[in-house]
Formats: sequence, C-alpha cells, structure tokens
Amino acid sequence: MVHLVVAVAENGAIGKDNQLIWHLPNDLKQFKKITSGHTIVMGRKTYESIGKPLPNRTNVIITRNPEYQAEGCVVVSSLEEAIQKDTEVYVIGGAEIYNQALPLTDVIHITEVHTSVDGDAFFPKLDSAEWVEVSREEHAADEKHDYSFDFVELRRSQIEKIQA
Ligand SMILES: NC(=O)c1ccc[n+]([C@@H]2O[C@H](COP(=O)([O-])OP(=O)(O)OC[C@H]3O[C@@H](n4cnc5c(N)ncnc54)[C@H](OP(=O)(O)O)[C@@H]3O)[C@@H](O)[C@H]2O)c1
Repeated sequence: MVHLVVAVAENGAIGKDNQLIWHLPNDLKQFKKITSGHTIVMGRKTYESIGKPLPNRTNVIITRNPEYQAEGCVVVSSLEEAIQKDTEVYVIGGAEIYNQALPLTDVIHITEVHTSVDGDAFFPKLDSAEWVEVSREEHAADEKHDYSFDFVELRRSQIEKIQA
C-alpha cells in the first residue's frame, strides 16, 4: 500500500529553493499524525531540506549516489526499492519523487492550500477520473495560518484499478 502525503498550492507549487513555501503549523501536526509510526520515503533533496531523520518513523532516502549516507536513515537507489521496505509506505516528496510515485499510489493525503505562490517545485495535476475524494476537512486562515486550507483524502478509483 503506497500513500502519498503532500501540501499543494492552487497553482500546483509545493516548494521553492528546496524549502516549503508556507508555515502552516496545523498542517505540520497533520503530517505528523498521518506518518508517525510508519515508513516514510523521500528524495535526497527533501531529506536535506528537512536536515535530520524525522522521529518515530523509518526514514528512507532515495538517491542515485551509491556513496550517500545519512545517520539514522535507510538509503536506497530506486523508488521500487524504497516501497519494498514496508507493506505500507508514506511517500513525502519532493516533486521528482511524487511524479514517479503517483502511478503506484493508492491513497493521497493532500493539503490544498488556498493560495497561488511562486515556486520551483510542482505537484502533478491529478486526473479527477482516477481519484475519489473520501474526506475533506476545511480550515480557515487565522493568526497562525496565513492561508485557509483543506485536508483531503483521495483514494484511487476502483474502476481505474479494474481497468489497469
Ligand atoms: N509541499 C510539500 O508537501 C512538499 C513535500 C516535500 C518536499 N517539498 C518540496 O519539494 C522540493 C524538493 O523536490 P525535488 O523534486 O527538487 O527533489 P526530491 O524529489 O526531494 O529529490 C530529488 C532527488 O531524489 C533522487 N532521485 C529521484 N529519482 C530517483 C530515482 N528514480 N532513483 C534514484 N534516486 C532518485 C535524486 O537524488 P541524487 O541527486 O542524490 O541522486 C534526486 O536529485 C523542495 O522545495 C521541498 O521543500 C514539498
């Protein structure tokens, strides 16, 4: 089972200069809630942007560099190898890894951030025929959150799976 966890602006932007483009504390809490106790899979650039292994999770880093090492993390050389590390994995980015993981993904935990921002990393546009929205939780902007945002869970349409 492959889960994908992402926060996306209305224009598809997810990051700039290898950083997140907003500070949304409740989204970070949601990310922690979804991924804690699980195996998370990320590209080398996202790992370096975070800068340390995330606690209470098995951290798997994908890189083409056979020499790469990161203390407290599992380093692999392909997405296929990464998703075989556990029966259930949570792919946490970035753009390159999301693009490759999307065809293999069963569930998307997406935070839709209600703004358009300047970015250099983008999430692919989803085909609405492929995904069914199973839940949506709306959050207004407030003093700690510059933008309103929705927590949305999408599951791959069963029709898609049968046709595949
Ligand atoms: N908004 C969100 O939810 C969210 C979440 C995560 C990240 N982000 C943002 O996304 C951006 C980073 O994304 P990105 O696309 O630049 O980088 P990335 O996907 O995090 O990492 C790319 C790196 O992964 C490795 N890689 C990719 N495909 C591979 C393959 N098939 N086999 C082996 N290694 C592979 C390569 O590492 P090597 O170069 O070492 O070979 C590549 O340079 C940042 O701005 C970050 O803040 C946003």
